[in-house]
Amino acid sequence: MILGLETSCDETAAALVTQDGEIRSSVVASQAALHARFGGVVPEVASRRHLELVCPVIREALAGADATLDDVGLVAVTIGPGLVGALLVGVSAAKALAWGRGLPLAPVDHLHAHVASLYLEPDPLEPPFLCLLATGGHTLLLDVRDRGGYRTVGTTIDDAAGEAFDKGARLLGLGYPGGAALDGLAAKGDAEAYDFPVARLDGLDFSFSGVKTALLYAVRDLAADELERRRADLAASYQRAIVRALVSRARAAADELGHGRIAVVGGVAANSELRASLPGAALVPLALCTDNAAMIASAARFVEPLAPSAYLDLDAHAAA
Ligand code: KG4
Ligand code: ZN
Repeated sequence: MILGLETSCDETAAALVTQDGEIRSSVVASQAALHARFGGVVPEVASRRHLELVCPVIREALAGADATLDDVGLVAVTIGPGLVGALLVGVSAAKALAWGRGLPLAPVDHLHAHVASLYLEPDPLEPPFLCLLATGGHTLLLDVRDRGGYRTVGTTIDDAAGEAFDKGARLLGLGYPGGAALDGLAAKGDAEAYDFPVARLDGLDFSFSGVKTALLYAVRDLAADELERRRADLAASYQRAIVRALVSRARAAADELGHGRIAVVGGVAANSELRASLPGAALVPLALCTDNAAMIASAARFVEPLAPSAYLDLDAHAAA
């Protein structure tokens, strides 16, 4: 089995996955509550928490799969992009485990892993397809022709979609991270109540700073009691603007590249309106949208593993 480790942001995760892509266990310890009072992830706090959680989470993943380290043939770990201190905890743990057991180690790119969440059982997706990857840190359109990688054809020129959801949620008093809470509030509102702008850029890129500013002004213009009454409408209209941008660009990219199939991955793929707006698309299962280690182990199957000692100087990197 492959032991996957993920510590790039504020989730400490470990999973056991077979070479065939069957998930035997997947444990995710979210630090969201720890960072909530700061209104965002505090990198140093995240690193320290990963350090406390990484061994218990690995133990739980092994127990959940009814396995021991003797059943592990490959260790896989996220090496970037992400918070470098957080990443280093996972990379160090993976090196120590792999070296101690004489196992190979697969260095995994976090974004490739989000795409590889589509390659897991019971419903593995076969390329080619156009992939919309929307997380708290990235919004990408990817031309996927094989499982080993992808080509980026569109990106955001400012905020990521998840970041736009989180900033909107914050403006609406929904706490951090607020994407899922905004999604829930939007279900109770009228999406046509406000006409928030969607940036029209040339090509296949995204921009979400304009819609965020529009929400900011709308919130500012309302008295406190009025704001309370309109919160659900604001959430619904804001969500609609973001989802429209994502859907229209993903469709345009698929047309341009001749892909008959669109897939959606990343935390924002959990959004109910986005899922409903793309009938026929391959949507990653809800449990695998936000950060997890099953996707890391999945990606490792398409990466050249490093032999013992070759990975001892392996480093983490913050940027994509
Ligand atoms: O993939 P992910 O766990 O982490 C990164 O790699 O960044 O994505 C987290 C992002 C956050 O911005 C979160 O607010 C957003 O995904 N998110 C959602 C929903 N659930 C999570 N955004 C919109 N609607 C949701 N239901
Ligand atoms: Zn992620």
